[in-house]
Amino acid sequence: MRQFVMSGLNINSGGHLTVGGVSVPELAREYGTPLYILDEQVIRDNCREVIGGLREHYNAPFTVAFASKALCFKELYRILREEGMGADVVSGGELYTAVKGGFDPKGLYFHGNNKSASEIKYALESGVRRIVVDNAEELELLGEIAAQGGYTPDISFRIKPGIDAHTHEFIKTGKIDSKFGLALETGEAAEVIARAAKMKTVRVVGINCHIGSQIFGTEPFALAAKVMLTFMRDLRENLGVPLNELNLGGGFGIKYLPNHEPVTLADMSRMCAESVTAIANELNLPLPELVLEPGRSITAPAGLTVYTIGSVKHIPGVNTYVAVDGGMTDNPRHALYGASYEPIMPERPNAPATQNVIIAGRLCESGDIITRNAPLPDVKTGDLLGIQATGAYNFSMASNYNRVPRPPIVIVYKGKSRIAVRRQTYEDLLVCDQ
Ligand code: LLP
Repeated sequence: MRQFVMSGLNINSGGHLTVGGVSVPELAREYGTPLYILDEQVIRDNCREVIGGLREHYNAPFTVAFASKALCFKELYRILREEGMGADVVSGGELYTAVKGGFDPKGLYFHGNNKSASEIKYALESGVRRIVVDNAEELELLGEIAAQGGYTPDISFRIKPGIDAHTHEFIKTGKIDSKFGLALETGEAAEVIARAAKMKTVRVVGINCHIGSQIFGTEPFALAAKVMLTFMRDLRENLGVPLNELNLGGGFGIKYLPNHEPVTLADMSRMCAESVTAIANELNLPLPELVLEPGRSITAPAGLTVYTIGSVKHIPGVNTYVAVDGGMTDNPRHALYGASYEPIMPERPNAPATQNVIIAGRLCESGDIITRNAPLPDVKTGDLLGIQATGAYNFSMASNYNRVPRPPIVIVYKGKSRIAVRRQTYEDLLVCDQ
């Protein structure tokens, strides 16, 4: 097999898989399974690629804000901060984690399509850089809360640019039939922004869109830039509302399977810089401050989940189910989106595949599948099994279904490992029970 789809994997002299130079079987022995392993160097390199692309090709201020929904725990914010990243948060919980992780709130963009009054208040008190307003009711609520507290927040608006980014239906958030943001076509966006521009309690500085996730091509982003900048021009010329911030969201695709060929992060970020520059020039607009919000592409390729195989069920002429000691509780993406993953055997990564199996979890639910058509060598109870590129939307979407405790996150960096999030205990499961 040896299909490395994530970065930072290698094979050591003993023939075992390594992540960031550390033996995966040894990590499994030390920390147990299931186990999320994260390669800090890969996260840092990905941050540097996106930032580097903008630094080289964009001649105005910019921010790369990591989308916390992809992965969120305290230690991650220390790494992001060191790399000069901002972050997007979509809830009081993500904001709390970022702040407790020592992240400067001035680097935070607060999103969400239904922020509560207490979340808005918390965001204002924390001093986040930007509140990204989703709808007219939220604008009103924000205005009231800001007036009560004596704040004048800088805000931007989530816009639906009406772009279909050809991705999985459930992950598509930019088209008009969506719960997120204000529609352009109907005039809703212009109307709400014009209203906000007259308010004394907020300062309107920009617009945001997010056209989808796991997007492979660059065209959808160029198209989004065109739609958004044209809207900025119209707001300036027709309504006298000059905006200075364009946030194009996230969505850069990553390699989950050997046949996936994503554009590199450096190229994605260069292309965004070049498109925005060219279109702004064409429209005679000053270059706006550019914000990108990659989530998946920063952390997914840094993550390997390691399981232990419990049982192997051959159903002659039908299928083979390989059951592992985790499942949809630590990785719900197949159950939710039909997502596929590339497995790897940490104790013999070079063994050729001899069969295609279904990798199933341990939860009481038929849909508890990690991936189908998974190429594996002959496997048996007790073997370790790795699932690649799980560093985004796995831990952050994990649950305690069946009261299964969540696995720990172990970070490897410079040949050493450390626990960033410890394994949940049974006692943790009862913490809120009265
Ligand atoms: N910014 C905004 C406003 C977003 O809504 C999202 C993702 C991002 C940035 C980051 O997108 P990324 O670079 O990670 O693609 N749970 C799904 C993905 C949902 C993405 C929702 N919004 C999954 O597991 O595939």
